[in-house]
Amino acid sequence: MGISVKNLVKSFGTHTVIHSISFDVADGEFVTLLGPSGCGKTTTLRCIAGLDTPSTGTIAINGETVSDPANNLFVPPHERDLGMVFQSYAVWPHLTVAENVAFPLTVKGDRDVAAGVAWALDIVGMSKLAQRRPSELSGGQQQRVALARAIAARPQLLLFDEPLSNLDARLRDRTRLEISRIQRELKVPALYVTHDQTEALSMSDRVIVMEAGRIVQEGDPRELYQKPVNRFVADFIGGANFLHVQRVGRQWQLENGSPLAVDPTTDRDDGRSKIALLRPEAIRLDEPSVPTPTGQNRLTGRVVGGMYLGPHVEYIVEVGADRLRAYSRSALSPGSPAILTFDACDCRLVDDTPLTEARSHHA
Ligand SMILES: Nc1ncnc2c1ncn2[C@@H]1O[C@H](COP(=O)(O)OP(=O)(O)OP(=O)(O)O)[C@@H](O)[C@H]1O
Ligand SMILES: [Mg+2]
Repeated sequence: MGISVKNLVKSFGTHTVIHSISFDVADGEFVTLLGPSGCGKTTTLRCIAGLDTPSTGTIAINGETVSDPANNLFVPPHERDLGMVFQSYAVWPHLTVAENVAFPLTVKGDRDVAAGVAWALDIVGMSKLAQRRPSELSGGQQQRVALARAIAARPQLLLFDEPLSNLDARLRDRTRLEISRIQRELKVPALYVTHDQTEALSMSDRVIVMEAGRIVQEGDPRELYQKPVNRFVADFIGGANFLHVQRVGRQWQLENGSPLAVDPTTDRDDGRSKIALLRPEAIRLDEPSVPTPTGQNRLTGRVVGGMYLGPHVEYIVEVGADRLRAYSRSALSPGSPAILTFDACDCRLVDDTPLTEARSHHA
């Protein structure tokens, strides 16, 4: 049950944008496709919705194959029983809010369209604007109409393409919780597309990271944040510092020769070039005069700049040729020396794979 995508390839003319990806979304699971602009998130979603035809590969929804070009099988979108929120909302301008939301209910032959519309509009907080037309709404309000329309007919599957991009920060937080709640209430699989790591980490049971039409890594949010496989994933999810390292004998060293103790579970000699990942929150940053705790790593750096963020100051510190981000509650002035301490287990070696190598490695 759920969604099953196998070896999906999508080309536009001679240009292949999805390179044989496979993944599943279990029944009731909330899965996010995360990746930079142009990596193929919308295309994948459109193939699942039936709005694009895959070049090769199969897609099944709740056990039924809906797309299999090799066998000339293609189930049209309106027979796939899914609700989709588009990146561009795509609400119909000539219909009122209520009429937009009523549409999927009418198509499905629902007996009480009015009740369905009221339910969906209430969930997104748009009941009072039911009689307006989209041209009389803000972008965020149109986005909420699109959300209401997607859930109104209580479909078997929910697809979201950056549904919060036009909401302000507070409304986005609230709607994020709403979407999670709606999905759990409907108990249907959901596939959510975003390039916003906060959305991906906070809403998902599982996150699939894509790069240039391929899946780089998938896992639950904690696993992706704590154990990224390479520099791309580490950089894309959360604040990331990278230290250039080299192996000298049995030891890892920074470029200036300082020894660096790393998480031993990541210290594999697999022939691939490595870089050390250190999250900003893992660093303790002090003035040299302050007695520092005995961490396994102790580096001396120089403060380059700082940004006051309220709870703490985010500093940029130069260590050798690398610039690191670290947080501190003390006031450190630019140019002054600083001591960085961190545990070896917080310093992970990850593949420093250039894009082309990452592509062939994960093909
Ligand atoms: N109809 C089309 N014809 C030709 N190329 C297309 C078409 N639709 C998408 N592409 C290309 O496919 C690639 C993936 O596009 P897609 O819209 O899936 O990216 P995305 O991950 O959703 O990006 P964004 O975060 O910017 O929305 C891009 O290089 C895009 O230019
Ligand atoms: Mg897109």
